[in-house]
Amino acid sequence: MERMTFSETAIECLRTGRVLALTGAGVSAESGLATFRGEGGLWEGRDPVELATPEAFRKDPKTVWRFYTERREKAAQASPNAGHQALATLEEALGERFLLVTQNVDGLHERAGSRRIVRLHGSLWRLRCTRCGDEDEDLDLIASHRCSCGGRRRPGVVWFGEPLPAGAFEQAANAATRADVVLVAGTSSLVYPAAGLPEIGRDAGAWTVEINPEPTAISDRVDERIPATSGSALPALIEAAALGAA
Ligand code: OAD
Repeated sequence: MERMTFSETAIECLRTGRVLALTGAGVSAESGLATFRGEGGLWEGRDPVELATPEAFRKDPKTVWRFYTERREKAAQASPNAGHQALATLEEALGERFLLVTQNVDGLHERAGSRRIVRLHGSLWRLRCTRCGDEDEDLDLIASHRCSCGGRRRPGVVWFGEPLPAGAFEQAANAATRADVVLVAGTSSLVYPAAGLPEIGRDAGAWTVEINPEPTAISDRVDERIPATSGSALPALIEAAALGAA
């Protein structure tokens, strides 16, 4: 495993304090899933307004479903990586001192064993009827696009311009204000309100650590930057804090 240096503060907070981990698409990059922005990203050469808005779905549900079916297939073929596993290990070691907040919809955190998880942007594996609102988990790769009420089903993800799932941000923000350390991994920190969580934590006294090979929109406002991938840095952090085999 790559040797990395972490601050004593981060290690001490992990050992004895409350930990909030915030993740984004970069955490799944080492599982082979594309991130959104940058080269080869999902939004490269595509207009998110035509794929990830309620208006797009009303206008052209087939195109929107094609995009999400492909993402469901890719996610199903992928496996959790060492970063996902490290976060599940952290939860196991810390119990109620730990909360994972993710912007990811791919289900890889859950498959790695994370249970204390707030999904800010929904899930690829949940479908919702646009007529009766009925929501259920659907693991079929070719999901039925019709609800039993006859209405059209849509992916249970948050689209641009839509509110986050009820209570999700409040739960995350509340955990941020109580956290001793906020670990931010694999996100460009461009999409709010998720991107505001580290600052909420920091304002309330938390130590903030960013794990990302590239600088981001919040890099100059965190206490500690680890310029490495989550698949290498998260297991190394757990090892440094002697919190379990990762
Ligand atoms: P982005 O694609 O905006 O950012 C991914 C980040 O991951 C970048 O900062 C990369 O440098 C970093 N990264 C890449 N590989 C990494 C690795 N192996 N380890 C750690 N970091 C790595 O994705 P998000 O920030 O998740 O919203 O995007 C936020 C939201 O914008 C998404 O949830 C989605 C999107 O539009 C909705 O769909 C509502």
